Amino acid sequence: MIVLRVLVIYAHPLADSLNGALFACVKESLAAAGHEVDALDLYAENFDPVLSADERRAYFDVEANRARTEPYVARLEAAEGLVFVFPPWCLGPPAILKGFFDRIMVPGVSFRLEEDGSLSPNLRHIKKAAAVVTYGRERPLLWWFGDPPRRMMTRYLKWFLAPGTRPVFLGHYGLHKPDDAYQRRFIEKVRRTMRRF
Ligand SMILES: Cc1cc2nc3c(=O)[nH]c(=O)nc-3n(C[C@H](O)[C@H](O)[C@H](O)COP(=O)(O)O)c2cc1C
Repeated sequence: MIVLRVLVIYAHPLADSLNGALFACVKESLAAAGHEVDALDLYAENFDPVLSADERRAYFDVEANRARTEPYVARLEAAEGLVFVFPPWCLGPPAILKGFFDRIMVPGVSFRLEEDGSLSPNLRHIKKAAAVVTYGRERPLLWWFGDPPRRMMTRYLKWFLAPGTRPVFLGHYGLHKPDDAYQRRFIEKVRRTMRRF
């Protein structure tokens, strides 16, 4: 197994939640497998998700937008693996994580805007990715809605990464109907997947 530097991005305000338990499980399992873990807890780090007027104006100014968010850009650029842990809220990631994409996945960081107007991926140093996502609703209903969090992780994110990288999607559906056995099996699946990451 190849040892990687893995950036784990977590978006949930409560440590004593299912997502908090999954974040702990992901970190422990990756570390137990020998990976170097950089845990980015967006709430604990008070990440500001709002793309300001100045940032929007400077969106295509690579130096300016890299300088504003430098510590986060550096962490993303140091990563060889990427894991997200979050619940869907109103069919999308929590605002704090959406804002991470808005502010950090910008030109000069996650992609390059070429002179002819075409876009090129710029996170090709990231060879492995996964997302752990917990849904209140059942999977058939999410399918009907197009399951935006799943598509964001398996289609949108994929384009930025090293060629051939297929993000692993671990979705726990139907949490509104409690099922302890299903939940335990899901946590075990997350543990196994991270140990083999
Ligand atoms: C503000 C809010 C919006 C939510 N929106 C959705 C949703 O659109 N789809 C869904 O399946 N579950 C939704 N849920 C349910 C959560 O995803 C679910 O409660 C969560 O994954 C449980 O994990 P937790 O205990 O760690 O918070 C929502 C919950 C909250 C608090």
